[in-house]
Amino acid sequence: MIVTIDGPAGSGKSTAARGLAQRLGFDYIDTGAMYRAVAHSCLASDIDTTDRASVTERAAELRIGFDGQDVLLDGVNISAAVRSPSISEAASRVAQHPGVRAEMVRQQQAMVRERDMVTEGRDQGTEVFPDAECKFFLEASAEVRAVRRQEELLARGVEVPLEETLEQIRQRDHRDRTREISPLRPADDAIVIDSSELTADGVLDRFEAHVRQCLEDLRGS
Ligand code: DC
Repeated sequence: MIVTIDGPAGSGKSTAARGLAQRLGFDYIDTGAMYRAVAHSCLASDIDTTDRASVTERAAELRIGFDGQDVLLDGVNISAAVRSPSISEAASRVAQHPGVRAEMVRQQQAMVRERDMVTEGRDQGTEVFPDAECKFFLEASAEVRAVRRQEELLARGVEVPLEETLEQIRQRDHRDRTREISPLRPADDAIVIDSSELTADGVLDRFEAHVRQCLEDLRGS
């Protein structure tokens, strides 16, 4: 079974997707971490992230994998390194290039063969796994997401003013929702949940209830 969770930055997708995979005993793919890995590699080599051809060429050369919930780039664990604001910014830029997206989609589709999986991103229910059995779209107001992001960064010792975080979230949202290829949007058959007023456990409980219902429906059909 494939469960897709899409939504904007800071909606609580990652926490929910990780928790859900754990509760269900499913594997988990953080597809945002894959775009971050491409960005990380480009920045490390001084490749201009707006240079479509060079970034696409680099994306095709990389070996991106997962070890549990960690992301590996050519075998090296880069999970912590890809969480900085500069990588967030660069990832949002590299994710606009059609060739990069095609390569990431190819890799994502290859990863799920014959495995039960929770996969999280922006285009999982719409483009990558349109036939997924259970799809979610998680949203929250930009203000709530900015506060969450700020707390997350602070926990890692990175201090960023709230206004700056809010502005970055608005810019990334705009880029993600208006890009020409695979813009962020809920799939027609996705269950849309607003997490603004919910705790992380509240979101997770709702997801789990829907997936268990979905599993029962599949068994009954
Ligand atoms: O979820 P995240 O913040 O780690 O994602 C990093 C960037 O990658 C973000 O700007 C959106 C982009 N992304 C995407 O375009 N498609 C995905 N499936 C996942 C992430």
